[in-house]
Amino acid sequence: MKSSPSPWWKTGVIYQIYPRSFYDSNDDGIGDIKGITLKLDYLSWLGIDALWLSPVNVSPMYDFGYDISDYYDIDQCYGSFDDFTELVDKAHAHGIKIIMDLVINHTSHLHKWFVESRSSKDNRRRAWYIWHPGKNGKAPNNWRSAFGGSAWEFDSHTGEYYLHSFLKEQPDLNWRNSEMRKSIFKMMRHWLDMGVDGFRLDVVNWFVKDDRLRSNPFTIKPLDPEKHKYDRNRPEVHDYIRELRSVVDEYDARMTVGEVFTLPPGNPELSASFLGNGTDELHLAFDFSIMYRFWSARSFYKCIKKWSAAIPEKGWQCNMLSNHDQPRSRSRFLGGTDSEKRARVAAVFLLTIKGTPFLYYGEELGMKNTRLARSEIVDPLGRRYWPVYRGRDCSRTPMLWSAKQHAGFTHARPWLPVDSSYKTLNVRAQTGDRYSMLNLYRNLIHLRKKHRSLGEGEFIPEVHGFKNVLAYFRVHGDEKFFIVLNFSGKEKHINAGNTGQWRVMLSTHRTRYEHFTSLKITLAPYEATVIKWMGKL
Ligand code: GLC
Ligand code: CA
Repeated sequence: MKSSPSPWWKTGVIYQIYPRSFYDSNDDGIGDIKGITLKLDYLSWLGIDALWLSPVNVSPMYDFGYDISDYYDIDQCYGSFDDFTELVDKAHAHGIKIIMDLVINHTSHLHKWFVESRSSKDNRRRAWYIWHPGKNGKAPNNWRSAFGGSAWEFDSHTGEYYLHSFLKEQPDLNWRNSEMRKSIFKMMRHWLDMGVDGFRLDVVNWFVKDDRLRSNPFTIKPLDPEKHKYDRNRPEVHDYIRELRSVVDEYDARMTVGEVFTLPPGNPELSASFLGNGTDELHLAFDFSIMYRFWSARSFYKCIKKWSAAIPEKGWQCNMLSNHDQPRSRSRFLGGTDSEKRARVAAVFLLTIKGTPFLYYGEELGMKNTRLARSEIVDPLGRRYWPVYRGRDCSRTPMLWSAKQHAGFTHARPWLPVDSSYKTLNVRAQTGDRYSMLNLYRNLIHLRKKHRSLGEGEFIPEVHGFKNVLAYFRVHGDEKFFIVLNFSGKEKHINAGNTGQWRVMLSTHRTRYEHFTSLKITLAPYEATVIKWMGKL
């Protein structure tokens, strides 16, 4: 019996684009939607199945689009609504889905809902946001903004405070208000009707706050999850997520993926809780644990083990190594002159473990963090905390297309400087090089697409990260793969005690179609090899 095909968001590879930095079609220094459309050939050559675009809606850009002032339109710096429609249609023609960023924990302070809400205490939209009188001339409670300072801003016009979990230009919506939710769901239907395939939900675990606005417990541990007992991770949020899921389920083959952000970063149980019973909340959720692990086979293994154990029976996991808020993985893995080798091992890991892989633009080239001067920083976080924290611009610099001026990203001055590595590290140069990082990614993606076991198969660990080696089987029906990853700079030996005919399908060190008759293998430093079972001896 043939099993039914799995949904695309389980089997596919998803690629995140930070639109400001992908490709500038009109030479104003800012990447745009037409720029993405122009690069669809590249993306389909790479083999990805879906694009997640960081926000492209109208925004005053205090947080570069994560502060939306009109959910129904596209910001003019990225193009027009028609440009977006064209992107959706052309992407679909290439077999590529489009996932939009849904920033609905908060809006911009310039959104008309907030403008109305702040206009008077009896405005019909007052309760769409979270307003409260002060206590003894101070903020209503001790909640802190994730971006620093009190989470409350006093508004002299009505003499009350409003809540903002991020910048004061990002007032939090009140998810307990059903009229507000209805408007959000209506807006979601608008994009679903026009063919958008899914949404990435910004900070989904922050939507609901304590109904009594109680102060968070005081804790002396700097990274204590209890610290956010009342302003985040409220259990009531799940009722609203189920409501939201039923809206998405009115449509065929759509998906949602939630950003579950915590400090300390990574909380697999909490992330997985947003999958509900596996069918009634989000389709996927991000867990950040792995982004905060040092380079080690053992810690990567422990991390994915915990993460998959947390996933509900009918649920599905997803994995990523980078995004627009974190330093680039290549730089995080350190390793000095070995950093490229480490990034290759990580690529094979990400694309052969169980769970939907998310790639971050440029990761397929091995892009590194860009070192920026204080005067070049535009991220509000970097500007506030420099030099202790330099913000997120280092991983948001333009995509490196070629060795031409500004890496072929634009002819104008780019909004953030281009990384100095672009002369040699770029799409053009790597396309023609069989052994490049880019071709490694491409081969991995294509291999994964061709073999169901790599996408959907069981994950059976064989070497659990000890001695810095990770090895596992992926099995689906009669199809079996064995993947070996040497995270260390030293030669290693493994013996998986399995005889048979095995053939190398992809490797950082071996030639394709090399044969083995047993899984007794000597691994070169930083070797990553994908081997396929060809039958008994
Ligand atoms: C999320 C986004 C981040 C943004 C924040 C506020 O964490 O990924 O970029 O600054 O939410 O919207
Ligand atoms: Ca532009």
